[in-house]
Amino acid sequence: MDQNELKALVGQAAVKFIEDGMIVGLGTGSTVRYMVDALGKRVQEEGLNVIGVTTSNRTTAQAQSLGITIKDIDEVDHIDLCIDGADEIDTDFNGIKGGGGALLWEKIVNNASTKRIWIVDESKLVKRIGNFGVPVEVIPFGAQHVFNYFVKQGYHPVWRLTDDGAKYRTDEKNFIIDLKVGEIADPKVMAEDLIHTVGVVEHGLFLNRVDQVIVGRQDGPEVLD
Ligand code: 5RP
Repeated sequence: MDQNELKALVGQAAVKFIEDGMIVGLGTGSTVRYMVDALGKRVQEEGLNVIGVTTSNRTTAQAQSLGITIKDIDEVDHIDLCIDGADEIDTDFNGIKGGGGALLWEKIVNNASTKRIWIVDESKLVKRIGNFGVPVEVIPFGAQHVFNYFVKQGYHPVWRLTDDGAKYRTDEKNFIIDLKVGEIADPKVMAEDLIHTVGVVEHGLFLNRVDQVIVGRQDGPEVLD
């Protein structure tokens, strides 16, 4: 099976955790795309009644096109289950997210969710997180000063750009700076530094924020608790 087939299988496995009446957080990314397709199928074929709360405008557009009811996060008082992807996960379930630029809404939806499941192909499992880089969302005002601070910290920052070379903008119209740090010795220390940097809105270190991981393996999806 290639990577896309593994992603499709974990997406399909994850929707089995969704029950009638649930409010479900819908993540962002290529793996989540398969999950949302599978959820749309259940809504259309079984009449499954769910409310989705999305983590990006892309996911909203896809979910609505499949007939899934979407509510704004502030229209619900809780989210039962959030299903999202990840860029890296270590053996302690520390993760990096934000490869798709949706880390801010993803962390807010993750925070409001009672249960969190991540769906990944096996290439995302690592001993120590960091090689993917750490995406950081910064407001445009003064962003170059934040970038310069990251240089001083030895974080090797890189602006995220669009295909035509402009600075990438998130759904909140912020910029993303990717920190090319390599394996992180102490993710907690780095997370503290990032979140206390003025101008940073949020970062892609997701520490202690997942309950179960569904991994796409060649011999079928495996659930890790
Ligand atoms: C988006 C994310 C995604 O969940 C993460 O990048 C994984 O994406 P994919 O399933 O395409 O590999 O954090 O901001």
